[in-house]
Amino acid sequence: MSLFSAKVLLNLFLFCAVLAHSQTPKSVFDSQGMVASRSAIASEVGAKILASGGNAIDAAVSVGFALAVTYPSAGNLGGGGFMVIRLADGQLIANDHREKAPEKATRDMYLDAKGEIVDGLSTKSHLASGVPGTVAGLIDVLKAYGSMELAEVIQPAIDLAKDGFILDEDLAGQFKRRLESFLNYPASLKVFSVDGEPYEPGDRFSQPDLAGTLERIKLAGKSGFYAGETADLIVAEMKNGGGIISARDLEDYESKWRRPIMGEYRGYKVISMPPPSSGGVLLTQMLNMLEPYELRKLGAGSSEVIHLMIEAERRAYADRAEHLGDSDFYNVPIEMLTSKDYARERFADFDPNKASVSADIFAGVAAREGLETTHVSVIDAMGNAVAYTTTLNLSYGSKIVVNGAGFLLNNEMDDFSAKENSPNAFGLLGRKANAIEPGKRMLSSMTPTIVLKNEKPLLVTGSPGGSTIITTVLQIVSNVIDHEMNLAEAVSAARFHHQWQPDRVIHEKTAFSDTTKVELAKMGHKNLNEVPAFYGGGIGDGNSVLSTDIGFQGMADPRNDGAAVGPSTLNAD
Ligand code: DON
Repeated sequence: MSLFSAKVLLNLFLFCAVLAHSQTPKSVFDSQGMVASRSAIASEVGAKILASGGNAIDAAVSVGFALAVTYPSAGNLGGGGFMVIRLADGQLIANDHREKAPEKATRDMYLDAKGEIVDGLSTKSHLASGVPGTVAGLIDVLKAYGSMELAEVIQPAIDLAKDGFILDEDLAGQFKRRLESFLNYPASLKVFSVDGEPYEPGDRFSQPDLAGTLERIKLAGKSGFYAGETADLIVAEMKNGGGIISARDLEDYESKWRRPIMGEYRGYKVISMPPPSSGGVLLTQMLNMLEPYELRKLGAGSSEVIHLMIEAERRAYADRAEHLGDSDFYNVPIEMLTSKDYARERFADFDPNKASVSADIFAGVAAREGLETTHVSVIDAMGNAVAYTTTLNLSYGSKIVVNGAGFLLNNEMDDFSAKENSPNAFGLLGRKANAIEPGKRMLSSMTPTIVLKNEKPLLVTGSPGGSTIITTVLQIVSNVIDHEMNLAEAVSAARFHHQWQPDRVIHEKTAFSDTTKVELAKMGHKNLNEVPAFYGGGIGDGNSVLSTDIGFQGMADPRNDGAAVGPSTLNAD
């Protein structure tokens, strides 16, 4: 047995001992496949698809539709997402179904006459929404690489919307906390409250309008969303609320096939999302900067490793602001940014004893609203793997449900740079590369990632968390490859994050020991801030799958509810 697998088993044993006392097992094993997501119901939907002979693509698409019903803060029909796929025959594919700016969008649409950003316009209004991409993406992916019919994989979502499901404390609590933000929108209130009163845990939650929309998609495919009744309802919603998405915008929407970013790190291949996400480029860039250093020897959690990672993050996020945007509109220097030579040059000024200073503008603006995006990892026994991250941007998107259609609209337009060097909700800066243009896709941080070992899927991972997504994935990947942690440890390990501007490190409570904090401060890392309550007390939600000698290990991030479910686990029920 290799040292790696011996360590995996030992860690597994330790972790199982802990889990013996926990109600919801977060880490499970199954040799037949695995689905890990933020919604236990949706993970079960996916595992059932695998159990009935579907492949990982069928399962991921089915989970995608189910999440729109069971996890409405981020699962969606009215948003967008990215899927990175490794097929059993070795092909590597990425599907981009990111929202795009409507044709009537303009560069300065969120600025007032004085050129200042109008607060809330890009997050809490009908103008906040990009043209939704999820339905096109899920259907295109299924058609190209699934083995089942749309009618089969969408049916669980229809049943869950029509018949409803019992609300747990997590979801009922979310609806209650959000009630105020739905007050202005009767259609939203209709879905997420009982005549204006909050839902309670134990209540049945059904969504007849959403079931209707899903039925139309089942019958007509993409036209069930981008044309006919659903499109009419979206356009009517826009007209009533002063939005600009038109019938033509919907009709023209297409998901795009992209060549994934393919990085290499210590002999492993790291496959991730290209622009319009910044995720794959930055992940590769940071791994390249770290590769010359012996992280394993320096030790996980040591001030040396944390310092190295912070400095890599600082440089990569500075590049993000300058160079990253939709590559169909802006010439993103992908080859340069992801090359080992560039990383060496970019990191040449790294001082092992001293923090550098993020010069330029101090943005200093923290995120203003609750977070939500969600990540699903799926693997099957045939060798297909899917990393899928999907979002409405902020929690429950714009909070606006399309009247009569039952789904929420995204507020993804906020991911554009509304004004040069002005922070978005995540404090991220941008310039020309990410300026608003009609039809352009806003820059994302979503980082669905598959790590290959000897050309076979080893790790499937990703996370929500806005700007913290990329550093969360970086830490999970490094925990597995550098620190040889098993998946439970790699996902549970406390996290930290730096994004160049604002010049501060945010960290989970236990990420740094007292000694490490003192050492980091000595190096000049002055702003070490415990993660703001806004992030829900944690960074990221890395639902992941790892291939091990004893089967696929699935792990739902312990920071939140959710579950990993395998097809045999289901059969055993
Ligand atoms: O695409 C992006 O980078 C953001 N819209 C993601 C938002 C997000 O992760 C919010 N939640 N946790």
